[in-house]
Amino acid sequence: MSTPTATIRVEIDGVATEVAPGTTVLDAVRARGGEIATLCFDERQEPFGACRVCLIGVDGAPGPVAACTTPCRDGMKVDTRDPAALRVAAATVELVLSELPGPPAAHTELAIVARGFGLQHGALRWPGAQHEVEHDERHPYLTLHHELCISCGRCVRACDEVQGAFALTATGRGFEANIAAGLHQSFRESTCVSCGACADTCPTDAITEISLLAMVEPGER
Ligand code: SF4
Ligand code: FES
Repeated sequence: MSTPTATIRVEIDGVATEVAPGTTVLDAVRARGGEIATLCFDERQEPFGACRVCLIGVDGAPGPVAACTTPCRDGMKVDTRDPAALRVAAATVELVLSELPGPPAAHTELAIVARGFGLQHGALRWPGAQHEVEHDERHPYLTLHHELCISCGRCVRACDEVQGAFALTATGRGFEANIAAGLHQSFRESTCVSCGACADTCPTDAITEISLLAMVEPGER
């Protein structure tokens, strides 16, 4: 006799659904065709919960919670259009954009998420300090534009979890947060094996494969 599979009953935007134990709210929403904006999430990696862009409302919770790291609970009621959650998420993306010296390239995840919140780099409420342009272009296949880094950590996790190369390190905090290839080294001299996993996951083109960069029109960068 087979054992029935345990399921968890949740309500997403008023619609009841069943999910397997351990399913995150983000996965549950996406499984039924819904969408929640994300920046530090990559389905190939363990959820990290760093960017606070995937915020949603949960009945009874004191404030918005991150959908990517929140597991579904039986009886949970989720509101992906919760006004407070969307307001905080939009403000977070606006702050991230305000630190860039220029708009992100239109095809990047950051640009797509920003458009989703109706944000434009040239029309932000907080035009604050912006990162200095700093490029490491000594690597034969990858280019690292530090000023575009939003410290989402995806490249570091891709390098560690997917490739096991440990070539990239998160550095600094707050406005100074960035990534480094090894310590006191250039990207070329690090333990990088040129797999391209970091460029593939980067949501801003801060790390790009040089062959792909050459295909993007200069005005698009
Ligand atoms: S280089 Fe890209 S993937 Fe890496 S932390 Fe910065 S924005 Fe994220
Ligand atoms: S995508 Fe959930 S916190 Fe970044």
